[in-house]
This record gives sequence, structure tokens and C-alpha cells, in this order.
Amino acid sequence: MGRNMLEQRIAEAQHVIERSKDAVAKGNMRQKYHFMPQVGWLNDPNGLIYYQNKYHLFYQFNPYDAYWGAMHWGHAISDDMVHWEHLPVALAPSEPYDDHERGGCFSGSAIEHDNKLYLMYTGTWKEGESFRQSQCIAYSEDGINFTKYEGNPVIPTPPEGYDTANFRDPKVWKHEDCYYMVLGGKKDNLAQALLYRSRDMLTWEFFNVLAESRGELGYMWECPDFYQVGDKYVLMFSPMGVYERTAVYLVGDMNYRTGKFTYSTIGEMDWGFDFYAPQSFVDDKNRRILIAWANAWDWMHWWKDWGPTFKEGWCGFFSIPRKVKLYKDGTLQFEPIKEMELLRGIGYNRDGFFIDKEPYLIPTVNGNTYELKLSINLERTTANRLILMLRSDGIRHTKVIINLKEQMLYTDRNNSDGWSKGVTKSPLLMRDDKVMDIHMFVDQSSIELFTDEYRTNHSINVFASESQDQNYIQGVEGGVYINQIETWELKTVM
Ligand code: FRU
Repeated sequence: MGRNMLEQRIAEAQHVIERSKDAVAKGNMRQKYHFMPQVGWLNDPNGLIYYQNKYHLFYQFNPYDAYWGAMHWGHAISDDMVHWEHLPVALAPSEPYDDHERGGCFSGSAIEHDNKLYLMYTGTWKEGESFRQSQCIAYSEDGINFTKYEGNPVIPTPPEGYDTANFRDPKVWKHEDCYYMVLGGKKDNLAQALLYRSRDMLTWEFFNVLAESRGELGYMWECPDFYQVGDKYVLMFSPMGVYERTAVYLVGDMNYRTGKFTYSTIGEMDWGFDFYAPQSFVDDKNRRILIAWANAWDWMHWWKDWGPTFKEGWCGFFSIPRKVKLYKDGTLQFEPIKEMELLRGIGYNRDGFFIDKEPYLIPTVNGNTYELKLSINLERTTANRLILMLRSDGIRHTKVIINLKEQMLYTDRNNSDGWSKGVTKSPLLMRDDKVMDIHMFVDQSSIELFTDEYRTNHSINVFASESQDQNYIQGVEGGVYINQIETWELKTVM
């Protein structure tokens, strides 16, 4: 019965996708190389895993509308995380424990167990007037067709005293001979990361509170994730109630005997407005890689809307995959994966020259879709500020301001596209004083900027028109000495 209902719901969703995907593919705001759904709405990345020689990507998906709704799990596979192939929907709301019409199958993760691909997700359902969240399992032998476990939900309720409507987003992993899971929970209006453990993946016991907010880190942590990098442990999450932080990471130490994580570093993965709910996994090359949803929620204070793409029948895309590394001072680096180079076409480069207040046109084949690497010689730079004017048509543009005097970085969308708004800002981090490197990926509807050796990053969406294809650099109150500028055309793969 369970399986039949699931199959039926998936068939209905596939029917809608097949019917509208060609029309949606024509949308002007569609990305060229960032992963996005064929039709409908996408939010969090889910279930990232390398399984049976393929990268698998699942995602929060509403095939029926370009807005959030009853959540399905969309699915795609890849050999390189750059070229993706869409597969049929993996999960759809189909059971009493996951069929809330304003809920469905919420976020979760994947793990290989007994040669099968296991998905652990949050089922949402209605109990009278209350919204309930429980942890559920679905498994598959071929990595394509999933069966919901007959013993679902495997964790029906949070421990005593916790909010039953804020108990979600399981991230599973294995350590020695035990399975662990971290979940977002809420108690006394404060966020907690709850740690569970299991010997067999099916029966779970509450172990300990891994870490918690005392108010400074918000009232709920969505999509928590926990892993080791180098000799340290990382807890990351997207906090609710912390103003402009959307993707926090904590670096510290883990005691598996007690189930307690203690941290000494707090960082932000990305200060941009469009980076949320990142999920990580370990790939076949033993790299820790993460992908995030490139958008924001309506409860965030700067939020205006999700952008104009709903008019084209879709909404939402992912950040480019980033590799996580531990930096010598205990902070983390998030570097675009090397495979992004597969997209490179014609390149330009120029070495050793000054730029002053006269805007320098960044050479590109197509100023709407390109990669940029810029190395600035700080010893020979006299300017107080360096400005990048991106996606410009002479009237509209998006500004990146690097204020060397204040040691701050801003991105300004107030004149980007007649749609977006807001200024992102962050301090620059300590670095070698001789050079400042900037790495940037521009796609039709987004800008991802990395600096401070990938420790200070800003990702923003910009819905600029095709004619906004000029990009400039300018020095303010002095000259900027460019050691090297390189750009590459990037191929269209989506
Ligand atoms: C985060 C989130 C999760 C939830 C999912 C629902 O963006 O709110 O907490 O599982 O989205 O789509």
C-alpha cells in the first residue's frame, strides 16, 4: 500500500514536470551552470552522497508551483558535480506521517548501509491543529526507486520538553561501529543540536545535546551538519533569529563518549543574502564538499521576495559546490571545487598594471557568465577603496566595494536590476598584507565572490537582463595595482 501510494504520487509529479519542462527551459533568468530544477520550486540540498560511482543530489522540491509547498525530494546524478542529469522524483508526500499539505517530506540526508542507499528525512503531518515533525527512513537498492520504511517514523517525537513543531533536518553519519544523527531542536525558545545514535540505522536513542544557543545563536537551527576536518570537528547550521547570519559554523572538539561538542571558533560560511541550508558530504576523493540553497526565507529581515523567476515557472538554484578546509588559525575555507574548471572556455589574462578612477573594463567573452581571478598587490596599491561594477549596462549595476581602509567588504544590490535590494557587509579577515586575491563566479542570475583565501565569501542573486554585460574595476582615492587578472568564459551545462 505504502509503496503504491508513493509510486502514484511520483507519477503525478513526473507528469507535470514532463508537460512543462520545455517551456520553463526557455526562461531568460535560467542559470547557465548552477544546478536548478527543471520546473517548480527548489530549496535545500538534501541527501548528498557518492553512491555506486555517482554523485547524488536530492533537493526540497515542489513540482507543482514556483513557490514553496508540499515538499517532494527531487533527484539528480553526476560524474563530476558540474554536469547533472535529472532523475525522477525520489520522495513524495504519501503517508499519514509525511503528508502535511503545507509540509511533506522535509530536509534530510543520505548514507550507505547494507549496500543500500538510505535516506533519512523529516516527515511532517497535522495532528489536530498542531504541526508535527518526525524522523523517517526511505531506502533503495538502485539509488533511483525508494521504499519508505514500514517502521516509520523511526523517531516520532523529540525528547520531553521540546517543541514538537521544530524537530527536523536529520544529518546522519557513521563513526566507528555506530550511526549518529544530528537534528535541529527547540527548547524554551532556544536552538539546540540534538545528537542521536543507533547500532542498526533503524532504532535510535537520544544521546545528548551536542551544542545549544543561549540566545546569541538564535531560537532554531535548521539543517545542522556535523563532521571532522583535519583534527577538529565542525558543527554548522542555518540559524533562525540571528539577523544577517545565514550559515554559521563552529569549530571545536568532540567527545564521542559523552556526546558533547565544545567550540572555540564561530564563523560565517558566506555573508551573502543568498546562501542557506548548506549540506556537506565526503566524496570519493575524500574531500569534504558542501552545497547550499542560493536564496533566503521570508522571515529574514532583508527579504523582499524570491526574485522574478516565478514568472518563468521556476524558482531556486544551488551554490557551486565548495570544498571545506581548516585554515591555520582555526577558521574554515570554502573553495569552489576544482571540477569547475571543466566549464572554462576562452580565457584572458593580463599582468602588472595600475587601475585608478577611470573604470577598467574586465575582458570577457560574455560578461553575463564568467569566472574571474584577480590578484591585487597591496604594497603598491594606494586607493582607499576598490570597486567592482558588475553586470552593468551603464545605468544599472551591482557594486562590490572593498574598503581597504575600513577593512570591510560590501555588495550593493540597490541598483542591480530593478528588483533586488540590500547591502551585504563583512569584515575582511587577517591575511598576508602583500596580496589580496579575489575569485568570482558570475552566472545569469547570481554572483559568488570569494576572498581572504576563501574565508570571506558573499553570494548574492542578481536578476540582471542580458544587455547588462559589462563589468568594471575602479580605484577610489588612489591607484590599485593588479598583479594579475584572469577571466574565463564558462560553458552552459544546465
Ligand atoms: C530550511 C528548511 C528546513 C526544512 C525545509 C522545508 O530551509 O526550512 O528546516 O526541512 O526547509 O522545505
